[in-house]
Amino acid sequence: MKITETDAKTASKPEKPLSGAVRAPGDKSISHRALILGALAEGTTQITGLLEGDDILHTAQAMRAFGADVQHISPGEWHVTGCGPEGWKSPKTPVDFGNAGTGARLIVGAAAGFDLQANYVGDASLSVRPMGRVLDPLTEMGAKFKSGKGTLPLTQTKGGALNPISFTPPHASAQVKSALLLAGLNTNGRTEIIETRITRDHTENMLEAFGVSVTRKREGQGARVSIQGPAPLKAVPVTVPGDPSSAAFLIASALIVPGSDIIIENVMMNPSRTGLFEVLTEMGGFVRTDNFRRSGGETIADIQVRHSKLTAISVPKSRVPSMVDEYPILAVIAAFAKGTTEMRGLGELRVKESDRLAGTHALLVENGVSAEIRGDSLLVTGGPVAGGATIKTHHDHRLAMSALILGLGADAPVTIDDASMIATSFPDFFDLMHSLGASIGAV
Ligand code: S3P
Repeated sequence: MKITETDAKTASKPEKPLSGAVRAPGDKSISHRALILGALAEGTTQITGLLEGDDILHTAQAMRAFGADVQHISPGEWHVTGCGPEGWKSPKTPVDFGNAGTGARLIVGAAAGFDLQANYVGDASLSVRPMGRVLDPLTEMGAKFKSGKGTLPLTQTKGGALNPISFTPPHASAQVKSALLLAGLNTNGRTEIIETRITRDHTENMLEAFGVSVTRKREGQGARVSIQGPAPLKAVPVTVPGDPSSAAFLIASALIVPGSDIIIENVMMNPSRTGLFEVLTEMGGFVRTDNFRRSGGETIADIQVRHSKLTAISVPKSRVPSMVDEYPILAVIAAFAKGTTEMRGLGELRVKESDRLAGTHALLVENGVSAEIRGDSLLVTGGPVAGGATIKTHHDHRLAMSALILGLGADAPVTIDDASMIATSFPDFFDLMHSLGASIGAV
């Protein structure tokens, strides 16, 4: 069953154990990058396993607007014929990123490398998220933007060639790193990003696959990443691995519903993304990875998860980059663990698709869970979970899925005001949850 805008109010309720095997949907981060690099490259990039979520469909449309030929061949299979040496052209109409922060930051970065004019827009949630974190360094490189408040809508104006820079982002952000690397492809010289903490490295991996030499040097907990421009890209086939951030919801459901035992196949195990799996194992969760193999330049594995007795732990700030999107669902899992789980360094959650720190806290407290925000930490004490609330999801797909998963383990059903945003990252969420036996649906 696909939930649509018209049957958006949705509830989940506790019922029977979950069982069966499902395949994780394509990774959102890699899907954006496959389309963008394909549109920059010379030749045709054949993509398999692309996530066909709304965020990615907006990126596909944006790539067409800049001049790439993007063809949907069959489910998950897309062909992108890039602009190559001719470069991207000025789009005729505004480029709409929808709800997608990754699409917005990466595409604005990539387009900044070309002498073109473009207007950028997004939905209500994206239009209040900070773009200054990419606009400021891109402006330092010589790009020209008009933006009222450092948010969308904004305009890139024609302004000539970019200069390379060496930049230390103030926040650990793969989006900022990626935007600058993509802009750096069209400079004369070395663009360098100094990360104080390692963030997901999918842009670097995929640039290398497309023939760009990327220099990476570890430095303490961070790294120096650089490329030498100008750097042309040559199309290569891309296989998109399964998304660990989407798998997290399936894993959580099996951990908290008594008697459950499930397998999730094809999950990407890139160490810059697997922080949650390590935390869950430390909490005593039965989260067993098996059948490791390589696919599309990444390691993938199958994960078996069983209902487990969990114990609270303290999750330090240093974990944030490897599980930044997983805190809402970790907080839900913590509600079923013995003791108080402390999650530190969550300031960045305030500028995601919604204020996720506040939203996660609210969804727990309204369902009878003891939770507290202290500075940029979230503390969740496990115990009986009453459920029964109707949760505001603030156009945030991860809050929506987290609330529904909470309902599977709670004493009473949990309802959300709007399920439509789930399609941005996980359009098959309801189908997969139903195939595992979960009781979730429109009310
Ligand atoms: C992403 C990076 C993260 C993450 C987002 C996807 C990416 O954002 O939250 O969902 O694909 O690069 P930040 O880099 O801003 O932390």
